[in-house]
Amino acid sequence: MVKTVIFQPSEVNEAAKLIQKGQLVAFPTETVYGLGADATNEKAVKQVYLAKGRPSDNPLIVHVASVAMVEQYAEEIPVKARKLMDRFWPGSLTIILKIKPGTLSKTVTGGLNTVAFRYPACQPTLNLIREAGVPIVGPSANTSGKPSPTTAGHVYHDLDNKIAGIIDDGPTVVGVESTVLDMSTDQPVILRPGAVTKQDIENVIGSIELNNHKVKANEVPKAPGMKYKHYAPNAQVYIVAPDADWTAVANWLAQAEGSVGLMATEQVLKSHVWPVQADQFSLGEGIEDASARLFEGLRAFDDQQEIHQILCQGFLPTGLGAAYMNRLNKSAGGTFFRELLTK
Ligand code: TXA
Ligand code: MG
Repeated sequence: MVKTVIFQPSEVNEAAKLIQKGQLVAFPTETVYGLGADATNEKAVKQVYLAKGRPSDNPLIVHVASVAMVEQYAEEIPVKARKLMDRFWPGSLTIILKIKPGTLSKTVTGGLNTVAFRYPACQPTLNLIREAGVPIVGPSANTSGKPSPTTAGHVYHDLDNKIAGIIDDGPTVVGVESTVLDMSTDQPVILRPGAVTKQDIENVIGSIELNNHKVKANEVPKAPGMKYKHYAPNAQVYIVAPDADWTAVANWLAQAEGSVGLMATEQVLKSHVWPVQADQFSLGEGIEDASARLFEGLRAFDDQQEIHQILCQGFLPTGLGAAYMNRLNKSAGGTFFRELLTK
């Protein structure tokens, strides 16, 4: 067991020394906090899976601080991929490329012949990568299956005593993980929607696909992470559809036994007098705020033993709404509030 040290962004050089020694340090990004280790140190990367309780066939994203770093590990960078890097890096777009054989270990790639690269838009973490002098693997720094961490406190909650340190740069801005785009085949495919939208990408390289395929338990998925349970708090989450009647929600809450988590925008929260059963969490003003706060809300209710149900506002799945609804759907297991009315 190690004591987990909290570092300020000004102390990144200390954190970089730990990474060089093969230890684990969680780092901020603009999306969510990541659990960092030297991507070239197999022993350190194995510890990442152990600390998170992550299945070993689920590959890790490799975080870089330059395109030159990608060139070291990718077989080639196709023209379209380079255009996207020029346009969106640093930023919330992860690009999967064919790996240069013999460079990164199977532990990083989960045995695939591809590797996911991300150049985060977060100065302390770019400093960390540059000071350590190596690319840094970084899955979201949560216990596997739980909502991703958007504050250093969330990381501490899940990983205290399991990792050497956390760099605290305050709450993350975007709040949902990066867009994962597979460019290792002729037809680019979005494997996970994020803040860089399908339209954003198509504006640069033309038509791409969005993988909406639901992966079965016995199937080998394109993005291995897609087959596992995700973003699941202890309470059952119900999606309130974007066109739902909030008066029906208020009426249902009034007859509920005990407290129920209610996650909705300010506009919705102000539009009704909510019964005492409603334990309110504000998603802010719109889809950007809601994306930034979704995981925080789910986690806040997780810490309240008496909450067994959470009702959470849905948005239209366009633009950033696609990323938000992808995460909310997973945390709710696809269950909607309206199903409660027929029970
Ligand atoms: O915003 C983010 O991407 C955050 C921050 C920390 O950078 N990281 C993150 O990592 O969300 P993680 O490990 O929680 O999610 C990475 C996803 C997983 O679903 C994984 O299966 C997929 O990317 N992935 C990684 N490498 C892959 C590869 N070579 N082929 C297909 N999918 C891959
Ligand atoms: Mg994750």
